[in-house]
Amino acid sequence: MKVAVLGAAGGIGQALSLLLKTQLPAGSELSLYDVAPVVPGVAVDLSHIPTDVKVTGFGKDDLASALVGSDIVLIPAGVPRKPGMDRSDLFNMNAGIVKNLVQGVADNCPNACVGIITNPVNTTVPIAAEVLKKAGCYDKRKLFGVTTLDVIRSEAFVGELRGLNPENVNVPVIGGHSGTTILPLLSQVEGVEFTEQEIKDLTHRIQNAGTEVVEAKAGGGSATLSMGQAAARFALSLLKGLQGQDTIECTYVEGPGDNAKFFAQPVRLGKNGAEEILSYGKLSAFEQKCMDEMLDGLKGDIQTGIDFAS
Ligand code: NAI
Repeated sequence: MKVAVLGAAGGIGQALSLLLKTQLPAGSELSLYDVAPVVPGVAVDLSHIPTDVKVTGFGKDDLASALVGSDIVLIPAGVPRKPGMDRSDLFNMNAGIVKNLVQGVADNCPNACVGIITNPVNTTVPIAAEVLKKAGCYDKRKLFGVTTLDVIRSEAFVGELRGLNPENVNVPVIGGHSGTTILPLLSQVEGVEFTEQEIKDLTHRIQNAGTEVVEAKAGGGSATLSMGQAAARFALSLLKGLQGQDTIECTYVEGPGDNAKFFAQPVRLGKNGAEEILSYGKLSAFEQKCMDEMLDGLKGDIQTGIDFAS
């Protein structure tokens, strides 16, 4: 398997590449691409870790070589938030970056699975879909918005609140990846009961957890280490699926469109990528209200992406 990371010299890119260098199956290839001149150095640095994963760095003019033969392409390239910024404020800078990089995917590895990390994910994923459609290689089973960070944050916060080992906590998170479009299904956490107030507070904390990090980093960027872990978890699950060992992750994909054209929910990952969009089950009255209130916003984010790409 060959995995390419586009934006590999950034905060997320470096953390993610380190985790992949140590956790990809033996014999895998890791291809690192960035416009920042430090990227060959990141590759050399990682290549001194003794695992059977071959790492190669590619600079700004070598996107094609970085991508050729890739099975999975992960895209954390772009500008992160600063305090006071909303994810949608990143649109002007990041939409064009994602468009160009996904065009590179279409030109060089049209059958690869693509995981978009660059914000605003609600909008950058529809942009990627439009680019792939125009190139005639769109397979909705192979395009994902990486929303795993919302899932791991939910697991961490529930574990912290109830004194549980967060590794044993499972929280499905559906919807999108910004503000109120992030909808954690706390009513479905097994073996844990919450009061109404706890549900409201936890939901609010999960929806604003990104801002918690942005403010704590005080102008130094947004989540990179937890995001690196989240993206590695998603990529390794996807890879297992491609190798025939089905796994389930919540991810933002083009589904049946019951709620919105793109929507995050549990997905069975298999040999062709998103093999099956799974039901997210019954919502509590609170969750249904949150869903009703956020859907128009999510649909607007999606339309912005479609309009930009056309
Ligand atoms: P960063 O600034 O540390 O790294 C971004 C990297 O992208 C830099 O190395 C830069 O040189 C590179 N880059 C810029 N334009 C490029 C291009 N055209 N081709 C290749 N590389 C390019 O930023 P960080 O913190 O790593 O965040 C990256 C993105 O991930 C941001 O958009 C951020 O909002 C998003 N993000 C997404 C999350 C999610 O849950 N999906 C969570 C946290 C951040």
